[in-house]
Amino acid sequence: MQIVLCESVDHVGARAADIIEARVRQGPAVLGLATGGSPRSTYQELIRRHRGEQLSFSQVTGFTLDEYAGLPPEHGQSYYSTIRREFVDHVDLPLDRLFTPQGDAPDLVAEADRYDAAIAAAGGVDIQILGIGANGHIGFNEPTSSLASRTRVKTLAGATRADNARFFSDGDVPRLCLTQGLGTIREAKLAVLLATGENKAAAVRAMVEGPVSAHCPASVLQLHRRAVVILDSGAAAQLS
Ligand code: F6R
Repeated sequence: MQIVLCESVDHVGARAADIIEARVRQGPAVLGLATGGSPRSTYQELIRRHRGEQLSFSQVTGFTLDEYAGLPPEHGQSYYSTIRREFVDHVDLPLDRLFTPQGDAPDLVAEADRYDAAIAAAGGVDIQILGIGANGHIGFNEPTSSLASRTRVKTLAGATRADNARFFSDGDVPRLCLTQGLGTIREAKLAVLLATGENKAAAVRAMVEGPVSAHCPASVLQLHRRAVVILDSGAAAQLS
């Protein structure tokens, strides 16, 4: 696990964008796309480079990391809508190559299997962009998730629903989700995890310095062949 310390949220975004740009300029690439606050500065920097430096995403395929169960893709808080609003609609990534687990699929178990198969059929993820929850989750793999898990239906932790209530006008966050599993995430050729702010410091410490344990799902990245963790000083505050 490589740790990169940055002085600001914008620098975190720029470092991550450097890694993604280098891969995207090589040719066809598959990106795993997290949503949430952590990758926002990265997406903004990539959009800036698309507009100002001819960085093209026309040969990129995107797979979101997770999706709320029960929400149709067009719901304003679905992760499909979110990733379009925050990144994809501002670059030239073709919409027919943006994939997300379908939250309103009639058979969520089959949908989860279909999603894992679609990732494999695309040749696997080249760069998986990740955030980390204050409880150590990645994707929606909450504490006690199997380290070998595949894309599947999960129940959101109460703390995660409370964290995300700010995005729902009625505060009514879905209880279930579809998420890439920890085993799925581990298969990405490169994992880039972004964390900013002191509220992530304890989770970052557990991920980097704690034992590999399902109690901190992000600690599975210690076993990853190539994981880069990009932190601002707040998120790095508890590292020894
Ligand atoms: C988002 C996701 C989550 C977030 C995590 C951190 O697709 O899977 O694991 O990355 O909850 O959220 P933020 O970045 O909003 O602090």
